[in-house]
Amino acid sequence: MLTHTVQDGPLLDRFRELWGQIAPIGRDAHSGGYLRYALTEPELRLREWFRAQADERSMPVTEDGNGNLFAWWGDPEAGDAILTGSHFDSVPHGGAYDGPLGIVSAFLAVDELRAAGVPPVRPLAVAAFVEEEGARFGVPCLGSRLLTGALDVERAAGLRDTGGVSFAEALGDRPAGARPELLGRFAAFVELHVEQGRALVERDAPVAVASAIWPHGRWRFDFTGEGNHAGTTRMADRRDPMLTYAFTVLAANKEARLRGAHATVGRVAVEPNATNAIPSRVTGWLDARAAEPDTLAGMVEAVHGKAAERARRDGTQVTLTEESATPLVAFDGGLADRLAGLLDAPVLPTGAGHDAGVLAALVPTAMLFVRNPTGVSHSPAESATDADCATGVTALARALEELLR
Ligand code: GLV
Ligand code: MN
Ligand code: MN
Ligand code: MN
Repeated sequence: MLTHTVQDGPLLDRFRELWGQIAPIGRDAHSGGYLRYALTEPELRLREWFRAQADERSMPVTEDGNGNLFAWWGDPEAGDAILTGSHFDSVPHGGAYDGPLGIVSAFLAVDELRAAGVPPVRPLAVAAFVEEEGARFGVPCLGSRLLTGALDVERAAGLRDTGGVSFAEALGDRPAGARPELLGRFAAFVELHVEQGRALVERDAPVAVASAIWPHGRWRFDFTGEGNHAGTTRMADRRDPMLTYAFTVLAANKEARLRGAHATVGRVAVEPNATNAIPSRVTGWLDARAAEPDTLAGMVEAVHGKAAERARRDGTQVTLTEESATPLVAFDGGLADRLAGLLDAPVLPTGAGHDAGVLAALVPTAMLFVRNPTGVSHSPAESATDADCATGVTALARALEELLR
């Protein structure tokens, strides 16, 4: 079987059919984006869809006790399995492709391998990982971190969504935590994902292989001051945490630019959140990423230092809490080169986090990216053409065929 650019034919039709089945699930009619939070109704429907797809292919489904699903072609106990797949959950008003493309492509790649008569000399599993975005419980790659033991079970169980529901409650049980016996069965993992930038558009290529993921993390800044009346409190008498917060957002932007790094404050909570009240508390979540770990650490430290200095001037307090951290991930270089040669695809690093980055610590792992014409992601504007998606399926099938040998 050779990778080729798909323009028409049965694979494109099959892709459109499966994509059409899931497209309405969790779609917000106003924004056109998706609200597919982990273990909420739309994501649970997608899991049902996953089970139905597995069933159609006579692939038994197992769960790992952490919310992750696996559909097996071949005996799960046999060992040396090849793992592929991604996640169903989205960020608020996210795009259609981030996550689900990797799962739909995985099932279609299994179909391609079977149709080509590739013998299942070892098992292959399609995975759907839970809470990759961290949009519900705050920690990204929650399911894969639990599976690999990168996250403490007690901490995960107690993470709560904004409605106060804990991860353990949403799961219906306490997470099982590290499953070395399950991980030990995987010889390799390949995650296909929509590209989240414009590198493939610029290179005029439909598919790429990932080389690395920038180290990144999430930090919570809590700014506290004195809540008071907006009309009667003299400007000189205020202790307004909104000022310290605003200064800190600008400082993060400046520090990131200075270092060629990325810093974003995309979420904020204000108390009491009233137009005519000086806030008593502002919480801002910083997402920070850089090519090198030292650059990242230096940037966060510099932003914290500037926030603390500004808090002294504003008469406010600031505390910084690390909520999640992902170290630099260098994907298996030999595997990336092998797949890049096989697929005649460019090799690129990325600033986006993925379950593949978590699994890479324990399992030889690779990622394939599919071109995104808008280059936009974590937004309804995220895009991919059906033809590129079908081409991605052939690339994934080719990669899996190589690994199944
Ligand atoms: C997940 O998509 C992330 O990189 O934040
Ligand atoms: Mn994402
Ligand atoms: Mn993703
Ligand atoms: Mn991601």
